[in-house]
Amino acid sequence: MASRRFFVGGNWKMNGTRESLAELMTHLNTSNLHEQTEVVCGAPFVYLDLVRSGLDPRIGVAAQNCYKVSRGAFTGEISPAMIKDCGVDWVILGHSERRHVFGETDELIGQKVAHALENDLAVIACIGEKLEEREAGTTEEVVFAQTQVIAENVKDWTKVVLAYEPVWAIGTGQTASPDQAQEVHHKLRAWLRTNVSDDVADSVRIIYGGSVTSLNCRELASQADVDGFLVGGASLKPEFVDIINARA
Ligand code: G3P
Repeated sequence: MASRRFFVGGNWKMNGTRESLAELMTHLNTSNLHEQTEVVCGAPFVYLDLVRSGLDPRIGVAAQNCYKVSRGAFTGEISPAMIKDCGVDWVILGHSERRHVFGETDELIGQKVAHALENDLAVIACIGEKLEEREAGTTEEVVFAQTQVIAENVKDWTKVVLAYEPVWAIGTGQTASPDQAQEVHHKLRAWLRTNVSDDVADSVRIIYGGSVTSLNCRELASQADVDGFLVGGASLKPEFVDIINARA
């Protein structure tokens, strides 16, 4: 298995209060986290300052989105510069909820990826097919097209983690099987090898998201091309530590 540092992201989505996040942060700060695992927590915008200052510095923090420019008349939007101003170094982009709930296009996501990287943010770039696309046998076509747009906007792959999140597995309890995850991750790595470089294919972390729990994380983590997770619901629970330690 190549020496890619295992990566576990938590995507807290639109959840939490100052009080509940303080409890979660205390749990993470006082738990034994596998030191070989990179951990990044994605917090709601309004809590970025709180979470950055409240979490142990060994744990990274991510915004869950950002806009494609850094200032101007874009009511309600947040810029990469503002995220950096909170001491936060990561941003999640292209999440399926941004795509399918809020209508973000591949083009907009590509522009956001470019701008985030230009402003020295590291990016968790999300891709994934819908159930009907999998059932139609177009999973590869869909995730390759999504990856292509992301790749066109990346100059420095060391600042990118690719998150494969089958939409049908997100929040449903229908986790992809280890074989299903490995199959897509392997094909994504082959796509990177063909379309970017051997070095990028060998070094980029490809992480899985979609109903990861403390019960299924170890088998998923044992797959050669699964380099970690992007965890939703379980990242708000004490079991998130077990998922972080899936390779311990
Ligand atoms: O970004 C991770 C998220 O979409 C997965 O959610 O609740 O299925 O772990 P969940």
